[in-house]
Amino acid sequence: MRPIQMVDTKNQYHKIKPEVDKAVIDVMESTAFINGRIVSDFSSNLAVYIGVKHCIPCANGTDALQIAMMALGLEPGDEVITPSFTYIATTEVIALLKLTPVFVEVDAKSFCMDPAALEKAITPKTKAIVPVHLYGQTTPMEAIMTIAGKHQLKVIEDNAQAIGGEYYFSDGRKMKSGSIGHIGTTSFYPSKNLGAFGDGGAIFTNDNAIAAKMKMIANHGQSRQYYHDIVGCNSRLDSVQAAILDIKLRHLDAYIAARIHVADAYDAAFANNPKIITPYRAPWCKHVFHQYTLQLEGFDMPAAFRDGLKEFLRSQGIPSMIYYPVPGHKQKMFEQFNVASQPMPVTDRLTEKVISLPIHTEMDNEQIDFITNKVLEYINQ
Ligand SMILES: Cc1ncc(COP(=O)(O)O)c(C=O)c1O
Repeated sequence: MRPIQMVDTKNQYHKIKPEVDKAVIDVMESTAFINGRIVSDFSSNLAVYIGVKHCIPCANGTDALQIAMMALGLEPGDEVITPSFTYIATTEVIALLKLTPVFVEVDAKSFCMDPAALEKAITPKTKAIVPVHLYGQTTPMEAIMTIAGKHQLKVIEDNAQAIGGEYYFSDGRKMKSGSIGHIGTTSFYPSKNLGAFGDGGAIFTNDNAIAAKMKMIANHGQSRQYYHDIVGCNSRLDSVQAAILDIKLRHLDAYIAARIHVADAYDAAFANNPKIITPYRAPWCKHVFHQYTLQLEGFDMPAAFRDGLKEFLRSQGIPSMIYYPVPGHKQKMFEQFNVASQPMPVTDRLTEKVISLPIHTEMDNEQIDFITNKVLEYINQ
């Protein structure tokens, strides 16, 4: 059996090696390493794929969130509502910009921001909402956008984990995740569903004015060379990454299908086991399985049992991950905001129960069978 990895970027690369190698050499021959033609070509192609008017490439998914928040003209002390159960990048940029993060619960089934919790957290200081499409599942955006509209709040979708996902509106419309809020952001971190061979990110919007401002912010706030109208930053996607991503974008739907195939096989193997909750597939969206995350049920000490499973799997050559062991409201970084005082029972419980299994585009049935057998061996002991 081939060694099992959380992600297998090497074999994925080897399947498209001739195309990728040529594209990288073309960039080197052109020497247009920064802002080359391929960067605008890739951005246009990605805008078409996502279904938005503007795609602004940038250096990584964290910058994408920062630039998006800077473009909204928020003032220090303004509140930004976001789930506590997410990667730190989402929440860190809020604090970095001297805004106030307000953490809300996620729904225990979908792992996404709970619209009811969102509505309760809104105060006169609230200015923006950042739902996170965690593990590849889109947040119930119809409800989020309705609440945002009612309170005149801006919505930034953190789509780092769900690129290629689709949301189904109650009137039958379909939209790609990342295209529904006022702004969407994503990351091309190598392990992401659309991963570069280094860092990268992008920002999406249909709003011309916001797009123009975000372009300026990502480029030192300049309107034309050496004329800097607003404070910005330096955040670029380089041409080599854009060239690779442009090729991988053509394969993205196939990559997602391969991930869903793995998820289907895992689901089948774990079906009807009372101690395992397989990932919920919300009827409102297409889950693109950036992660395949189980919840373990019915144990007195869930974290100890879960950590034991992780250790057992490791001993069998199977990696696994805990995304995320410490929620935002318990991070030291946010102590100043007094967030730990708010009860977050759903989030706290999830941090003790979740475990993510390997899932990627290159997994074969032998690997999947080996993993599921080992998980069941431990769970059923
Ligand atoms: C939900 C979420 N938001 C933001 C980011 C930040 O992306 P990057 O690592 O490209 O800065 C990530 C990446 O891991 C993420 O998972």
